[in-house]
Amino acid sequence: MFFYPFSASALLVFALSVAAASSKGSMSSSAPNPSSSTASASAANPPKKSNKRGLAFAAENPTDVLKGNSSASVATWVYNWALVPPDYIAESGIEYIPMQWGAADIEKLAVTVKGLGAKTILAFNEPDFDQQSNINATFAAQLWMQYIQPLKQDGIRLGGPAISSGPSGLPWLQDFMAACSQCTIDFLPFHWYGSGSGGFFDYLYSLNGEFPHIPLWITEFAETSSNDSVVLDFMNQTITTLDGLDFVERYAWFGFFRPKDGSHYNLLDVNGNLNAAGQVYVDAAKKVVNALPNPTGSGPDGATNSAGGLTTVFPASDTGLTPGFATQTGNSGLRVGGNEIVKICGVGGAMFAAAVFGAALVW
Ligand SMILES: *[C@@H]1O[C@H](CO)[C@@H](O)[C@H](O)[C@H]1NC(C)=O
Ligand SMILES: *[C@@H]1O[C@H](CO)[C@@H](O)[C@H](O)[C@H]1NC(C)=O
Ligand SMILES: *[C@@H]1O[C@H](CO)[C@@H](O)[C@H](O)[C@H]1NC(C)=O
Ligand SMILES: *[C@@H]1O[C@H](CO)[C@@H](O)[C@H](O)[C@H]1NC(C)=O
Repeated sequence: MFFYPFSASALLVFALSVAAASSKGSMSSSAPNPSSSTASASAANPPKKSNKRGLAFAAENPTDVLKGNSSASVATWVYNWALVPPDYIAESGIEYIPMQWGAADIEKLAVTVKGLGAKTILAFNEPDFDQQSNINATFAAQLWMQYIQPLKQDGIRLGGPAISSGPSGLPWLQDFMAACSQCTIDFLPFHWYGSGSGGFFDYLYSLNGEFPHIPLWITEFAETSSNDSVVLDFMNQTITTLDGLDFVERYAWFGFFRPKDGSHYNLLDVNGNLNAAGQVYVDAAKKVVNALPNPTGSGPDGATNSAGGLTTVFPASDTGLTPGFATQTGNSGLRVGGNEIVKICGVGGAMFAAAVFGAALVW
């Protein structure tokens, strides 16, 4: 659902300025070398990195990325819906994956991506959705063959268009695949928003059933409940399962940002620290341990406390378990209608307010 925040021409200028930085190896897709990190680490037990888990970076404060590349972080990749990273992401040591968001400036894709030295690229963002890149399947297939497919011969891995989880998603993708029969798509990203992991897994398995030979990425997904316990529980169920599924290559929770527009799925708190969901997602040592309520909502005995209360994270947070949400300040969001999520970006707050209710302080 994320809006492309920069003008494409500004990005191109920026691409040239960061091309040099990328040669330092920040774009490398190779996993950290476990033996060298063990050898150099005076810190105890550096975490095993996750090949799959990434950051959907929608944060606005440049220092926020440091929470994603801390020594405790398991995250190994980051994207921000753009084709070139700002310096603070390029220099974070986390693999940056560029995205060709829409049709604009696609003729400059090849030179930019090669300049960055990227090994993998993402393509059109929710082309099935008129509030997003909004490209019809036939035209998207033409653009793909002309501008994206040729990058294959440079050894770049090509991500397919990322459909939404709305009703237009799968039909769009079927049309695209039919129109793009010569395309060699290396992996297929998709998005999902809603409430309850059942709907998420239904969509995941239906896409795997439809395209069984193409590995899947989930480049945006979130539980849209305003109950933070429910959000944590959903995160626990989904990431644990995704980690074990061979046909899921990578995923990125939506998202890595501070509370915004009444969100409950943000991974950072108001000060830019990892909130409880952020700790579970990013920090190898933090787990959701108590899907059942506990009376205190925090504290080191959360794991054993089942007498009623709130979901917690164990071991307890270094930074304090802070609210995952703030009052609405902007004008975009998600609306849940029945079991179906209807995305509205850039509309007035009134519709969103309907989905944000009972804002109980859960952590
Ligand atoms: C994280 O990024 C900062 C620079 O932005 C760098 O100084 C630091 O070493 C990085 N940490 C890791 C673990 O890569
Ligand atoms: C698809 O989009 C292209 C470019 O905007 C347009 O020329 C074409 O008419 C569209 N096709 C359909 C079937 O809408
Ligand atoms: C939030 O969800 C938990 C777990 O399902 C539940 O026990 C709790 O009552 C809910 N809180 C609110 C305010 O609805
Ligand atoms: C998920 O929950 C289970 C038990 O409820 C727990 O064992 C596991 O560590 C949790 N995983 C994460 C990533 O929180």
